Amino acid sequence: MFSPSRVTVNRCVRLTFFISIPEFTFFHRYLMNWRGHPNDMLSHSALVHCQPIPNPTPLPMPELNSHSPITLIRGTFLDLVADPFQEPIAHSVRYIPDGLLVIENGIIQAFGHYTDLNSTYGHLPITTYSGQLIVPGLIDAHIHYPQSEMIAAYGEQLLEWLEKYTFPTEAKFQNPDHARQIAAFCLDELLRNGTTTAVILPTIFPESVQILFEEAERRRMRVIAGQVLMSRNAPSYLVNDAPTALAETREQIQHWHGRGRSLYAITPRFAATSTEEELKLAGQLRVEFPQVYIHTHLSENRKELALIRELFPHATDYLHVYEHHGLVGNRSIFAHCIHLSDSELQRFAQSGAMIAYCPLSNLFLGSGLFKLHQAKSQPFHIPIGLATDVGGGTSFSLLKTMAAAYTIAQLQEQTISPFQMMYLATLGSAKALGLQEQLGNFQPGKEADFVVFDTQATPLMKLRNPHVPAQSLDELSSQLFALIILGDDRAVAATYVNGSLIYQQ
Ligand code: GUN
Ligand code: ZN
Repeated sequence: MFSPSRVTVNRCVRLTFFISIPEFTFFHRYLMNWRGHPNDMLSHSALVHCQPIPNPTPLPMPELNSHSPITLIRGTFLDLVADPFQEPIAHSVRYIPDGLLVIENGIIQAFGHYTDLNSTYGHLPITTYSGQLIVPGLIDAHIHYPQSEMIAAYGEQLLEWLEKYTFPTEAKFQNPDHARQIAAFCLDELLRNGTTTAVILPTIFPESVQILFEEAERRRMRVIAGQVLMSRNAPSYLVNDAPTALAETREQIQHWHGRGRSLYAITPRFAATSTEEELKLAGQLRVEFPQVYIHTHLSENRKELALIRELFPHATDYLHVYEHHGLVGNRSIFAHCIHLSDSELQRFAQSGAMIAYCPLSNLFLGSGLFKLHQAKSQPFHIPIGLATDVGGGTSFSLLKTMAAAYTIAQLQEQTISPFQMMYLATLGSAKALGLQEQLGNFQPGKEADFVVFDTQATPLMKLRNPHVPAQSLDELSSQLFALIILGDDRAVAATYVNGSLIYQQ
């Protein structure tokens, strides 16, 4: 069942035992100009002996280029063909209760009603999913793979959480074996949750980036990732030399960007952990490689905002720090963006950059309530993708993430329709990332990534959704909403990547 590089079950893994040391805050370290040593942090961790990290049980990896020439999938299909924040449901939602998806070499060749395509393709073998709902592969617009093992870390908000839990965990990714084990875990967990594309942060260690791309390539997943740049305000074991890190980034761009389904993002962690020199070098590299992404955090937490003001006294606001270095524009991905001023929102909207909206993380870390409706409506219309932000986010499931987005809208006396939520995790994210020609819906010519959801996956879901398939858009809306609110990985019956079945329950 397992491919060789994932047979690592007996490897000894150190689990970090977290101890609260309130006086050692990120803030204090900055103010006291503290320079740590690896052992300073690691001594705060107790070693717990040899615990295997459980492996999920996906199917064996499909061999690269092992596509059977043609794959046919029959079932109930839902996708978005326009933005339901702007267009009525009748124009933005495509629902085909009995449809056929025709895939050749991983690419969608034809899609439509079974009765229309039957005469052309009906003689070929067909995989039928009856009573299930097939949607395009979900896109996670922002996730940290090294944080998979420290998800659900107790009791802190952003800066202290980074200091106490995140940085010590990321230090472990200097070890390539550990990086491979967690990269494989994270990608398999994404697939188990129906996520087929992800924008991913590794760590400052070049091998942790290389390994992630290798593991994604083995699964044929689309990923956007890049070496995390951190040149100050972190323990010394997690600080890079800016010119060296940018040289490594350049090499990785040349190797990985556009190779297969891999895409590269220049990734300063956030302005607080980069020197002006590092941000400047990142901007220069973007000029050299305008087709790559920029990926970072922006305006997540109020203490963070105060820190940025202190670190960049000449900047008019947080966004200005990135603007100043030419990091804001098409293919720039900013996670969170909770506390942007009107001026920042205006400039952001004009730049072509996108927001990765992380509702579960924003709640869990107490960061605040992102104003989705403001960002999505007149005059801003900012491109937005949905994101888990594991381990700040508490689930790999974009269904659970959608449910959190719905709850946040309710707290703001707004509402988001289930189709709008699905849009943010499929076509909306694909468009925001400039990948609408490749991803986001079942349009012929696109890559065949999709998820088979069971809207009756649990007894409660079956009670709530007794009759499938839905007979109208109203009924579909109700069933999809219940899937979002009640569902998680249990509702993922199967996941296909680039036309191949890669996970099934
Ligand atoms: N800002 C800088 N680093 C991080 C991180 O790892 N997680 C979150 N949520 N915010 C950050
Ligand atoms: Zn993040």
